[in-house]
Amino acid sequence: MIKIAFYDTKAYDRPSFDRYAGLHGLEIKYLETKLGEDTAELARGCDAVCVFVNDTVNAPVIDRLHSLGVKLIALRSAGYNNVDVSHAFGKIHVVHVPAYSPYAVAEHAMALLLTSVRRIHKAYNRTREFNFSLSGLTGFDLHGKTVGVIGTGKIGHIFMDICRGFGMKVIAYDPYPIPDSCIEYVSPDELYTRSDIISLHCPLTDSSRHMINSEAVAKMKHGVIIVNTSRGGLIDAEALLDGIKGRKIGAACLDVYEEEADIFFEDRSGHILDDDLLSRLISMPNVIVTSHQAFLTEEALDNIAETTVNNILSFYNNDGACDNELCYRCGNVERCKKSRKEKCF
Ligand code: NAI
Repeated sequence: MIKIAFYDTKAYDRPSFDRYAGLHGLEIKYLETKLGEDTAELARGCDAVCVFVNDTVNAPVIDRLHSLGVKLIALRSAGYNNVDVSHAFGKIHVVHVPAYSPYAVAEHAMALLLTSVRRIHKAYNRTREFNFSLSGLTGFDLHGKTVGVIGTGKIGHIFMDICRGFGMKVIAYDPYPIPDSCIEYVSPDELYTRSDIISLHCPLTDSSRHMINSEAVAKMKHGVIIVNTSRGGLIDAEALLDGIKGRKIGAACLDVYEEEADIFFEDRSGHILDDDLLSRLISMPNVIVTSHQAFLTEEALDNIAETTVNNILSFYNNDGACDNELCYRCGNVERCKKSRKEKCF
């Protein structure tokens, strides 16, 4: 039996994962708490932990899990900025779900953009109160506008296709451009100065943290719309708020927020929000916040469960080898064993 401590369980996780519980020798211990230094102990007796984006998997947590005999950290997400992958190397293997539905995230980015541009959130509230006034609801055509896409991987690529379908001009920045593609790659500065809309689709790394800061905002077009469905830490939220207050930024569509870990995914409607910055952003008429729900489609949940279970089974039934292992920070990139389909360590 492979026993899994499943941290930060939400009601929407269970139906897709329950289909596998008890099958293939898997036993899932659902925990509502997040993984962190205080809760790592709950994995005692488990072979693997299954974690999501706001679980903390830093060096002390990894050391604790390692001492408990946990062999595998199975992320049920694509992003892994919450895991100290290099610290895990040599101790615990880390696997993730590289793609579950890039369409879900790209479509959500466009949904946020359209909602903002056409003031759907305002109109929805008005008509529910039989207020049929159009005052203040004027939007603009997306057709003909320039969208700057940062990160042209799976999600960014689909988002670009969607934008082209709207007749938008697409420019992009990615440190690893797709060769021979029809994408017009530009530098970050050129992207900032030319884009009417900027959409973030790159991972959060040490080098991308706060890439949207006050210097970047200063270079942007007046009235620019910023869409972030990637990771909150890509944006310096103080700089974003300043840009909105200064009327430089026309609108912000945020599915993620740097300090979301203790806020998002929970019903806090009866509580006073301690995060003044988030409160201020949410209070702005031109800011739309969703609580990290871009991934949340039936298709994505099914794919997440299937790939996570396959990752775990592959690891335990295949002598530790798993195609979705994260090991590129092992310090042995040139001769990485994983690229030869061998065990990472
Ligand atoms: P991907 O790995 O297919 O593509 C990421 C792209 O970003 C790559 O082309 C890479 O070269 C590029 N990149 C790396 N560093 C960059 C930088 N500093 N500036 C610009 N580009 C850079 O990843 P995918 O699947 O497209 O996901 C993108 C991000 O979306 C993930 O890292 C994750 O943070 C976020 N995400 C958010 C979800 C949500 O529910 N809101 C769900 C799934 C992913």
